[in-house]
Amino acid sequence: MRKGKPVAQSPITLTRHILEEQAAHPGATGEFSTIMAQIALAAKIIARDMSRAGLIDVLGLTGATNIQGEAVQKLDQLSNETFVRAFEYYGGLVRTLVSEEMDKPLHVGGLLLDGTRQGKYALFFDPLDGSSNVDVNATVGSIFSVHKVPEHARPDSDADLLKTGAEQVAAGYVLYGPSTVLVYTVGAGVHQFTLDPGIGEFILSARHLTMPQRGKVYSANEGNYPKWPTGTRRFVDYLRDKDQATGRPYSSRYSGCLVADVHRLFSVGGVYLYPAETGKPEGKLRLMYEAAPLAFVVEQAGGRASTGTQLIADIKPTTLHQRVPLIIGSRDDVSRAEEFIAGG
Ligand code: AHG
Ligand code: MN
Ligand code: MN
Repeated sequence: MRKGKPVAQSPITLTRHILEEQAAHPGATGEFSTIMAQIALAAKIIARDMSRAGLIDVLGLTGATNIQGEAVQKLDQLSNETFVRAFEYYGGLVRTLVSEEMDKPLHVGGLLLDGTRQGKYALFFDPLDGSSNVDVNATVGSIFSVHKVPEHARPDSDADLLKTGAEQVAAGYVLYGPSTVLVYTVGAGVHQFTLDPGIGEFILSARHLTMPQRGKVYSANEGNYPKWPTGTRRFVDYLRDKDQATGRPYSSRYSGCLVADVHRLFSVGGVYLYPAETGKPEGKLRLMYEAAPLAFVVEQAGGRASTGTQLIADIKPTTLHQRVPLIIGSRDDVSRAEEFIAGG
């Protein structure tokens, strides 16, 4: 062997990491690595499109309104199409796609002779989270969640897709910031990858991410304060009170992008809230492709996610686009919020 400096360990790509994880878990099949590879591909294309957003005609509104009643940005639509294209020919694995930007599930799995469809998994996604940030060149994200669908599912039935967060087999997000970061879990810890644009690969940048048990930061749209329930208002008042022993007041940080605000909590700890409001008891965020996947990731990192009265992971959805109040982040901070909410 040649003498000299030791050769640096080669970077660990997302694909290699998933294959290694798979080898370590004998029950795991190779299927998930193909799904992750397609999610990574969609993320790379979205990151590329976003980096040129001011130069090509992708900024602004399409003029359409989505199922949520929200104005659709051109980049919402483009990112949705990117996810769909990444999966529509993967009939063998993913049977159904559910997106914030599609009123109805898209059944991409090929129809079989017995009337059922090919594919063991359903992919839920928010293709572009925080899309109002795009026009001001601020951070946005994508969120994804993978569920197993019953083998002999009724053809194209929504009921088979209405599963709790606890049943997710994988979840994660992509953050398009100064660098593009992909964070995911399959229930065996949380791992982070950073896109090296020079080689077009996601490279492992943090293994087994954890979240501080208690934090220093809270994130909420405080313009809505007067609409929050009393318990929630009292919790935020408490965070703003001065108390050296518990490190209060907390700092306030709110980007308008859920992914970015939750990602921050991995470094500094704390809590993100999008609470219930007067006349809007279900809050704003969607359960199946915003709250539940982020709850899975945060819980795997030692954090907690709740509506204030119930764990997000335990909610049995009644509709695919259902909304929930969300309080997510460091375990002690979310538990404290629950105490205030229980006190009314
Ligand atoms: P989306 O862009 O997918 O509709 O999600 C926006 C979400 C979330 O990212 C963010 O935290 C929140 O809505 C911001 O809402 P407000 O503008 O009401 O604060
Ligand atoms: Mn969103
Ligand atoms: Mn969105």
